[in-house]
Amino acid sequence: MSETTSATAGNPAPSAAKTVTLTDNSTGKTYTFPVLEGTVGPRVIDIRKLYAETGYFTYDPGFTSTGSCQSQITFIDGDEGVLLHRGYAIEDLAERCDFPEVAYLLLYGELPTREQLTKFETTITRHTMVHEQLSSLFRGFRRDAHPMAVMCGVLGAMSAFYHDSTDIDDPTQRMIASHRLVAKIPTIAAMAYKYSVGQPFVYPRNDLDYAANFLSMCFAVPCERYQPNPIVAKAMDRILILHADHEQNASTSTVRLAGSSGANPFACIAAGIASLWGPAHGGANEAVLKMLTEIGKPERIPEFVRRAKDRNDPFRLMGFGHRVYKNFDPRAQVMRKTCHEVLGELGIEDEPLLNIAMELERIALSDDYFIEKKLYPNVDFYSGIILKAIGFPTTMFTVLFAVARTVGWIAQWKEMIEDPSQKIGRPRQLYTGEPRRVFVSLEKRG
Ligand code: SDX
Repeated sequence: MSETTSATAGNPAPSAAKTVTLTDNSTGKTYTFPVLEGTVGPRVIDIRKLYAETGYFTYDPGFTSTGSCQSQITFIDGDEGVLLHRGYAIEDLAERCDFPEVAYLLLYGELPTREQLTKFETTITRHTMVHEQLSSLFRGFRRDAHPMAVMCGVLGAMSAFYHDSTDIDDPTQRMIASHRLVAKIPTIAAMAYKYSVGQPFVYPRNDLDYAANFLSMCFAVPCERYQPNPIVAKAMDRILILHADHEQNASTSTVRLAGSSGANPFACIAAGIASLWGPAHGGANEAVLKMLTEIGKPERIPEFVRRAKDRNDPFRLMGFGHRVYKNFDPRAQVMRKTCHEVLGELGIEDEPLLNIAMELERIALSDDYFIEKKLYPNVDFYSGIILKAIGFPTTMFTVLFAVARTVGWIAQWKEMIEDPSQKIGRPRQLYTGEPRRVFVSLEKRG
């Protein structure tokens, strides 16, 4: 018996190819559930009626085997090391597009024509300035505040500024909010950096493209004219592409869950930034640089590899491993190539941290522990070396990840809002606490 599921806006009805049957051995009862098949990738068992029919919840902390939604934005094949955005391979996009083109693809579902791209770039450029009062928000932070803390605060505050783009039921307002977030996130990130180094904020320049404008807002000073190095601007653009979206990762799932209640889109992005900050997720790029700096010289690598393999030592090789990739992270491959290109073109031939990173990668990839556990370098392993060469402090690395990922977050948020089958996210649990017990008054407690 097979059932077909109803189509949802933007998502074709996955064909219910087959069914699976579950037998409850405690009662002998059997239950049948539809199997849904997407375009590519693993099929899913549709368990939406499981609890109603069986009285059971599923149990999957960390959601290692759980599909939370249907999506058409990004596909990852972790075993093959494949990453597609709307069907296009990340290697092609990184090599042949610029970030605005990829942002358009993620938001609209198709690569833009020349006319569409020009219109999109003009729209984004014309939204790069922030409300002037937003700049006074920064003064409430200590200068030594972590820039990610500032980003959480300022993005959340944006929900108090743009009331004409928060009716999430209005598709026009959803797109305006999307354009505003893609356009203003680099401006806010640059302001967080400038505030941390005590320099004046630099306004966006409409004569520069997205990546070059971001570099200008970060590194220009009022005392002299700044022209971004084209090599560095291209590397920045490619880094933004490589970090733009990545399926239902922790921060994207956070944005979707926050958005599922109908929350303000700017506040949902602030929630995504908070999740990305963790060292197990986007904070890993900063942690990789700290680790490489702590290793200090190639001779100390074996000591750190030993610690990473020791189950009693909480130390992990930052920038290695991934929940989905059990092969090379294709982004890490492109990032490594870009790292060599940028350092070479900047004349930084003998970058000690790069030498340590390359030797660490060589040793780890030949070590049985990493081979058995399929731990490969991920997107964060090389990105920090490039960002350091460009001139960013390590505290800005995750901020740059957030700049790139904002378009992915908002594209996923839009897809969720526009999916008529979406409901507020509300997982259940396995309760292991106290059963109901008699209340004891304060006087009678021991
Ligand atoms: C990102 O989800 C995404 O798509 C995220 C991301 C995106 O674009 O959004 O790709 C960006 O977050 C990349 C990951 C960046 N994080 C790091 O580099 C931090 C170091 N890596 C890990 O902490 C870990 O690999 C995770 C968090 C990335 C994945 O962890 P999982 O999937 O929960 O796997 P696990 O912790 O269960 O590890 C499986 C085994 C464990 O050993 P056993 O308990 O089976 O004996 O592998 C070991 C782990 O101890 N292991 C590592 C390791 N990563 C996993 N051992 C040493 N060093 C590591 N880095």
